[in-house]
This record gives sequence, structure tokens and C-alpha cells, in this order.
Amino acid sequence: MNLKIAVLPGDGIGPEISRQGVDVMTAVCEKFGHAVEYRYAICGADAIDKVGDPFPEETFETCLWADAVLFSAVGDPKFDNDPNAKVRPEQGLLAMRKKLGLFANIRPVETFRCLIHKSPLRAELVEGADFICIRELTGGMYFGEKYEDNDRAYDTNAYTRPEIERILHVAYSYARRRRRHLTVVDKANVLASSRLWRKVAQEIAPQYPDVDTDYMYVDNAAMRMIQEPRFFDVMVTENTFGDILTDEGSVISGSMGLLPSASTGEKTPVFEPIHGSWPQAKGMNIANPLAQILSVAMLFEYFNLMEEGALIRKAVNASLDANVRTPEIQVEGGATYGTDAVGAWIADYIRQA
Ligand code: IPM
Ligand code: MN
Repeated sequence: MNLKIAVLPGDGIGPEISRQGVDVMTAVCEKFGHAVEYRYAICGADAIDKVGDPFPEETFETCLWADAVLFSAVGDPKFDNDPNAKVRPEQGLLAMRKKLGLFANIRPVETFRCLIHKSPLRAELVEGADFICIRELTGGMYFGEKYEDNDRAYDTNAYTRPEIERILHVAYSYARRRRRHLTVVDKANVLASSRLWRKVAQEIAPQYPDVDTDYMYVDNAAMRMIQEPRFFDVMVTENTFGDILTDEGSVISGSMGLLPSASTGEKTPVFEPIHGSWPQAKGMNIANPLAQILSVAMLFEYFNLMEEGALIRKAVNASLDANVRTPEIQVEGGATYGTDAVGAWIADYIRQA
């Protein structure tokens, strides 16, 4: 296969983990005889500094040229602490999602057997937890009408029927490939937008009689996720709830640095870690590259290159078993490895496999 990849390293630890993702991708392509071409593009704070726009037109065009985008992270504290900042790095990420029509964000929450002790939750509780959160990504409060002055501000949580229908169909297609259990998460006891979600979900559910559908309020879902994570198989929810629940989900896995995601929809799909740019660690070579590397696995799997994805997963598990780990997941007394050393170990493993 011929793969054209847009690489968007972004800010903070982004460039460091991006390099590892690209190296692993190259190793896999060599191994399986795929031709791959990379084009790099700027985004986030880096792009604001360079051209005053967190998602410049040229970057958008590079994304449109590509078969897939390998995205890392955006964000910089110099914008966070300035409430008057006119442009923010995060707007670049949101613009990319919107312009590419990436309405479905797939966030798997998995546990790694050898990292169970890293979760603050009891091992017997998280062991075997394995679910996917499907987060609607281009609607809701993130993109609804906003107003802001010194005394009053609001965001609108608007959803239309077609927006809800298409994300539900994506969620059902995942549920069908898994344990056939879908949980629709909303706040229908309070929010009008959630009532529409539930109404549409109840209309669609009979089209999928082979899937068990249940409905859960988001507050209850947040509790259930840490009380009984194994209950979930696929959950589907709106943008803001999905943002919050997936950060919570990362606690089950033991580190933010482990979870990849795929954003798919109308145009070029984007593969990225769920974590942010961790500016405090920039340039320190301590960030975990696994979420980025697992995003590459999701990229191959998106193109139905299942063996390629499986080899990356196998290599990642082997690195964990061999204790080749970044500091935040290292076992007591174990030597820690840098971002680049973990990436190099995994790329080598793939070349030798
Ligand atoms: C995420 C991030 C983004 C979001 C931010 C950086 C805009 O937290 O991908 O989850 O809220 O969607
Ligand atoms: Mn988030």
C-alpha cells in the first residue's frame, strides 16, 4: 500500500513523541513493504508564533493531501494564563476536527496486565477492563453559539438529529464487532439536548436487535466507570461528556501516556494520543511515547492493515514486559528509559520480528 501521512507534531512534548511515532511507522512500512511519504505541518502555539494562526490554511491542505494525519499535541501555558488571548493553540485542534468533519472520536480504554498496579484503583477492579468511548467531536458546547462579556457568558449545547444519528451508527458498528453492549450516556433528566439524544437512540436501537442498548446519566456513568469498569463495552456520548469521561478512563489504564485515539468522519482521519502537550516536560525526553505509537497501530487498523497494527501492539507489550518504560510507569528500582529509547526499542523489535 502507498501511504501519505501528514505529521503534525505541535507543541510541548509533541515533537518528541511524534518522532517516535514516525520511526515506528517507518519500521512497520519497511517490514510489510508499504511505501510511505510524510509531510510535516505546523499547528497550535508553534503555528501561532510562526504565522499567527493555530491551524493555517497550508496545514489544512497538507491534511487534505494525506491519507491520514499523525497528530501529537497542542497547548502552551503562555496562553492558558491570559484570559484575553485572542487566539489559543487549542483552537487549532478544534478547527482541524471541524474542517475535516471528524465527528467520531474513538477512545479505547484498555488495561495492560503488567501495569495494573499503576492504577490508583484496586487491581481486582480494573483487571480485564476493556471498553471504547465513542465521543461526538464536532458538535455540542465546543462549537455551539457562544457569548462572553465581563458579567455574562454562555455556551450552547446544540445537537441536531442527523449529528446524533451518525455517531450512534458508528457506535453500533463498534459494538457489533465487540461484546454487543452499547451504553448511551447523557443527562436527559436535565438537558434538552440529551433528551433528543435519548429519543434518537431509542428510535435507532431496534435496528440493532443483536446489541444490548442501555441508557445511563453521565454522573452515574462517571461513578460506574471506576466502580465497575468491566460493565462497559462501548459507550457513546456527546462532546463535552466524552472529553471528561475519557480523562477519567485513563486512570483505569494507569497513565495518561498510554491511550491513543482515532478521529474519523468525512475527510482525512486523525490519529492522536488522548493526552495533552505536557509543557513542563518539553525537551526533557521523559514523555511516554506509547499513546502516540498506539495511535499508529490504530492508523494501520483503520486501513484494515490488521497484522501491522497487531505487530505494534505486540512490540509495545514486549517493551512493557522488558521494563523498557518511561519514568511514570517504571517499576520500583527499575532503570527508566527516555522517550527516544522506548521508541527506538519498539522500532528495533519490529525490524527484528
Ligand atoms: C482532548 C483535549 C481537547 C478537547 C482540548 C485540547 C481542546 O482535551 O482532545 O480531549 O477538549 O477536546
Ligand atoms: Mn480532553
